[in-house]
Amino acid sequence: MSLRIRSIEPRDLSEVRAELETHWHSHQIWSLGRCHQADALPGFVAEVVVGDVSEAVARNGSAGAFAGLVTLNMDPGAWQCEVITLSSRGKAPGTGAALLAAAERYAREHGCKRIYLTTTNDNTAAMRFYQRQGWRLAALHAGIVDRVRKLVPDLPRTGFDEIPIRDEIELERWLVDGVE
Ligand SMILES: CC(C)(COP(=O)(O)OP(=O)(O)OC[C@H]1O[C@@H](n2cnc3c(N)ncnc32)[C@H](O)[C@@H]1OP(=O)(O)O)[C@@H](O)C(=O)NCCC(=O)NCCS
Repeated sequence: MSLRIRSIEPRDLSEVRAELETHWHSHQIWSLGRCHQADALPGFVAEVVVGDVSEAVARNGSAGAFAGLVTLNMDPGAWQCEVITLSSRGKAPGTGAALLAAAERYAREHGCKRIYLTTTNDNTAAMRFYQRQGWRLAALHAGIVDRVRKLVPDLPRTGFDEIPIRDEIELERWLVDGVE
């Protein structure tokens, strides 16, 4: 069994939407007060491949089972790039790490100096995961989810471990040699 990371293609749309609905209950993702149509963003999917890739394509029309998704938004001027969603179905260890590495490569290849993301204050597992992957805490956006909820009342009020969702934590990785 191996993990294959590839760019999102139009044929992935239903799996992409299912993944977004599972974790975010919507295709529209709010981050830093901005709304992203995540099912229209570029990014990467992970597939679990059993056996040979070309044989699997010949057999099933695809290389393997959908295992995870990362979506990305380039900031104007391509100075920096934001990870809008990252999720893994847990089918293969290292899926989240491989998708995050693909996002970092994409940002470097587009000349970005920094890649960043936000996660909500309840998502302590994500904060652990990103820091274990070498990302750094960059900022606390206190109360930003409460403010967005005034515009979008159906945003969930509680998250993991019944923690009220109120804030976004920004994490980052600099892509410039010598800058941490
Ligand atoms: C956060 C999330 C994306 C992590 O994905 P994941 O696939 O579980 O993560 P990984 O398997 O890559 O990493 C977990 C561990 O596997 C390890 N790992 C990495 N590559 C590996 C490999 N090739 N083989 C075995 N283990 C590996 C990692 O080092 C990590 O170990 P650690 O827990 O000791 O730090 C996932 O839990 C998820 O989908 N959460 C819900 C959605 C979410 O909250 N997303 C983040 C908010 S944007």
